[in-house]
Amino acid sequence: MSTTFSSRPGFILSSAGSAIGLGCIWKFPYMATQHGGGAFFLVYIGLALTLGLALMSTEMALGRATGQGICGAFRSLGNRRWQAWAYLPVATAFIIMGFYCVVGGWSLAYVAGSLRGEVVGKDLTLLTSRFNALIANPGMAVMWMAGFLALTAAVVLGGIQRGIELMSRWLMPLLFVLMLVLIVRGVTLPGAWEGVQFLLRPDFSGFSFGTLLAVLGLAFFSLSLGMGAMVTYGAYLKPESDLPASAGWVVALTLLVCLLGGLLVVPPAFALGIGTQAGPGLTFISMPAIFASMAGGEIFAVLFFVLLLVAALTSSVSLLEVCVRFGIDELGFGRRKAVLIASAGMFALGVPAALSFSLMSDMTLSGRHAFDFMDHITSNIMLPVGGIATAVFCAWFCWHDLAAQLRHQDRSRSRLLLGARIVVGIVAPLAISVILLQGA
Ligand code: PHE
Repeated sequence: MSTTFSSRPGFILSSAGSAIGLGCIWKFPYMATQHGGGAFFLVYIGLALTLGLALMSTEMALGRATGQGICGAFRSLGNRRWQAWAYLPVATAFIIMGFYCVVGGWSLAYVAGSLRGEVVGKDLTLLTSRFNALIANPGMAVMWMAGFLALTAAVVLGGIQRGIELMSRWLMPLLFVLMLVLIVRGVTLPGAWEGVQFLLRPDFSGFSFGTLLAVLGLAFFSLSLGMGAMVTYGAYLKPESDLPASAGWVVALTLLVCLLGGLLVVPPAFALGIGTQAGPGLTFISMPAIFASMAGGEIFAVLFFVLLLVAALTSSVSLLEVCVRFGIDELGFGRRKAVLIASAGMFALGVPAALSFSLMSDMTLSGRHAFDFMDHITSNIMLPVGGIATAVFCAWFCWHDLAAQLRHQDRSRSRLLLGARIVVGIVAPLAISVILLQGA
């Protein structure tokens, strides 16, 4: 089985596939709506283009320099103590998958529902209660979650070229086209323009450190940083590819899809009067209402939910791949065994997350049910801390090896590299620590 991506576009699309997912299309729209719209977006762009880009390049370089997953990379360029730090990102990927596959399961359920023509509707109360009925039904929630996990496992079993790359190459371009078509329809609904303005007009009046922490968490989450995904994919990148340019593409595409995700979901929510009150159900409630106002809405509904599913899947495969790589590199498993064991563990975590809206809604940890708790500790604590550890390690313990990866052919890029080292080694750890401490 081949262990590199076959081409640079294949690598870029797969890494963008990891980054672009529920973060852009599900999380970003409702978080931006809850945290003041344009201001949230602007800070998100700022963080993505500075810390995000620098960290993504170095994570990828770490993978390519060592040809290993994050634990192996920390061990071979650092030492045993550093290697212990790398357990944190692997654990993060594992926990994220616990709640990610629940939302992936909702997408799968909506694909099935749209195929039966049961998703589209104009009546908002009905759409909301349909969504609530799905998430509050314990059997359904667990079954769809397990279905999504099984799909993820099937792709990862296929390996890099025949699994992850093949899927991303075909489906990511389709995602862009479909989003554009749906946006045009959504923003022309009466009342939708107010949503566009809300999303794009920066209003910093309610902005706090808590908001900054939320943006930071989302930036890490949506760019797949701080948990070894980009290290793992970097390990499969051919030596001759220009690494910072590839990372630039991935960040730019992710920003673009967040913008598109916002424009897709938020304006119709305004048109429908859900406005700024909606939470995690936003995508699943406002989209079916747009379809109701479109000719051929039933078909668009199928397409949309298939693509949401695909976006989720191209991300969840990278989460599983991080854990699979850990099993292969650290525990000596074969790919198949690693996939089976990691998926079984993720299923065990996914069950309480799936039941958070029904049987286990009263079981809380620091006031949050399992689903919210997993989301909160990973995005707001584990990803940023994993990011600091990776940044410090890269800039101060193995920069020499990484710089060799970040150069391209005979260009020395000394200024670019100095800038990146300052961002990764000084700005990122300081800024992330301050935001973490103030926002907590
Ligand atoms: N970036 C993915 C998304 O936005 C989620 C993810 C996080 C995937 C971390 C891999 C690693 O949906």
